[in-house]
Amino acid sequence: MNTWHDVAAQADLFEDAGIAVTVQGQEVALFSVAGQVHAIDNACTHGPARLCEGWVEGAEVECPLHQGRFSLETGEATFGPACESVRVWPVRIDNGRVWVSLDAPLNL
Ligand code: FES
Repeated sequence: MNTWHDVAAQADLFEDAGIAVTVQGQEVALFSVAGQVHAIDNACTHGPARLCEGWVEGAEVECPLHQGRFSLETGEATFGPACESVRVWPVRIDNGRVWVSLDAPLNL
């Protein structure tokens, strides 16, 4: 059973944009795309960039530093120079609040 953390109001999220939240001392990036909320590691696997500051295109985020891309659904690095996946975390929405669990990534 997952341990859930209340990290944000759903109203804090804007379509096709990211925000950073801290969960158990770890930064997670939240994105709202087509009405669905995704939570991924906020750190690019290629270098020192925060993915919450990236550009959202479809269900992918483009890293603001070297334009590597990651799937928000699977965490897969879909465009270089990024080649390692980021972790994707379980999200649930309850009563207008966004809850994230860091117990186990969805994609590893
Ligand atoms: S730091 Fe993200 S692609 Fe290089």
